Amino acid sequence: MKVLVYGSGGREHALSWKLAQSPSISEVLVTPGNPGIALEPKIRCLPAADFPALAALCRAERVDFVVVGPDQALADGLVDFLDREGIPAFGPVQAAARIEWSKAFSKELMQAEGIPTARFEIFSDLAAAQAFLSAVDWGDGWVIKADGLALGKGVVVCESREQALATVQDFLEGGAMGASGKTVVVEERLLGREVSAFSICDGTRAVFLGFACDYKRLEDGDRGPNTGGMGAFSPADWLPEGTAARVQEEVNLPLLRALKKRGTPYKGILFSGLMITKDGPKVIEFNARLGDPETQVLLPLLDEDLLPWLQAAQRGALQELPATGPRLKALAGVHVVTAAAGYPGTGGAVVRKGDAIHLPEALLPREGAPLEQKLFFAGVAKNEKGFVTNGGRVLGVTALAATRAEAREKAYALTRGIEIAGAQRRGDVGR
Ligand code: AMP
Ligand code: GLY
Repeated sequence: MKVLVYGSGGREHALSWKLAQSPSISEVLVTPGNPGIALEPKIRCLPAADFPALAALCRAERVDFVVVGPDQALADGLVDFLDREGIPAFGPVQAAARIEWSKAFSKELMQAEGIPTARFEIFSDLAAAQAFLSAVDWGDGWVIKADGLALGKGVVVCESREQALATVQDFLEGGAMGASGKTVVVEERLLGREVSAFSICDGTRAVFLGFACDYKRLEDGDRGPNTGGMGAFSPADWLPEGTAARVQEEVNLPLLRALKKRGTPYKGILFSGLMITKDGPKVIEFNARLGDPETQVLLPLLDEDLLPWLQAAQRGALQELPATGPRLKALAGVHVVTAAAGYPGTGGAVVRKGDAIHLPEALLPREGAPLEQKLFFAGVAKNEKGFVTNGGRVLGVTALAATRAEAREKAYALTRGIEIAGAQRRGDVGR
């Protein structure tokens, strides 16, 4: 088979690398990919200007199956488009991906179905939002969220009522989040520890791919601005006993039933962002895709071929495979991101491009490279001098080992070999 992965980041590097290990796959195409992914054996990167060009590319290259990585493409209806073109594609259709691209929709759905989540109200009118914030006190603070996609930047956790009032004003009146912020969700702040549950869904059934913890803030000790994610580890070894079963029964299956009932069955990866509170797991948000950088730690931990799972889910036939989900290695994984100077570009900072990247030869993709340590390429370009930075998160290193502490040591030892002027990374991933 020939498979095409759509996207260009570290997540798509991990997806294409994992799929290229499948004995059923002769070649993986990545559109557009990046110059680091292009070094992988069995992988080729090709551009496509738009969805029709992508369909034409799939036909010309005789692609059998497409896997869509990023949220924006799902929100734009790429899977619907490929369905109409008769090209099998893995990922939710636009109307099902709405659980991610509209936070207001997702909250109302959870409320209607009794899925545990933070209390909330939805506003498009500033005066109404202000009146509400002035009248109600949920105790632990407020969280203000832009309704639409915002690259992880549309959420403000507020410590005080003043901050909450200022934030709704920024979003609704100041246009701080553009069209994404024209509707806001005002939410109760939940206390607890965060974890993300990743499941493969076929419209009716869900099997776990794994649980991972992400490092969202830029700096050590969870300080600094929110980012797309500066590192991750898996498994979530601290989870209370029985959490997976509760998430399946209280969150994932009710969501699948609800979307099926509404005529938009959910096929694809379900990313349930959870807070483990003293009352059990509560949903912070749903995403309609794999996480970045969580994928870079989840997929190396998979102890079997990913392709049969994605195909079965796309066909609505997960019952053909074990209900326990794909087999995982009995190892721990830690992933450490190296980001460019200026990332994430908040507070007037500019994310710098064009810095030279110096890498140890041993980290580059090659035939027969070890599967327990892996460099993934994200915001990189190549010029006559070699690799240079070309985006926020530039590179990430994953290491697997018997314990999280060992995986962490190994990941940092490898990461220290990477040199980029002004690069930023956290020192406490996996601690
Ligand atoms: P989201 O984009 O919805 O994942 O939100 C980004 C981050 O904001 C989450 O990872 C949490 O750390 C935080 N957050 C969002 N909603 C809440 C909430 N209701 N209570 C506490 N923290 C939250
Ligand atoms: N790392 C979080 C995300 O992919 O949304």
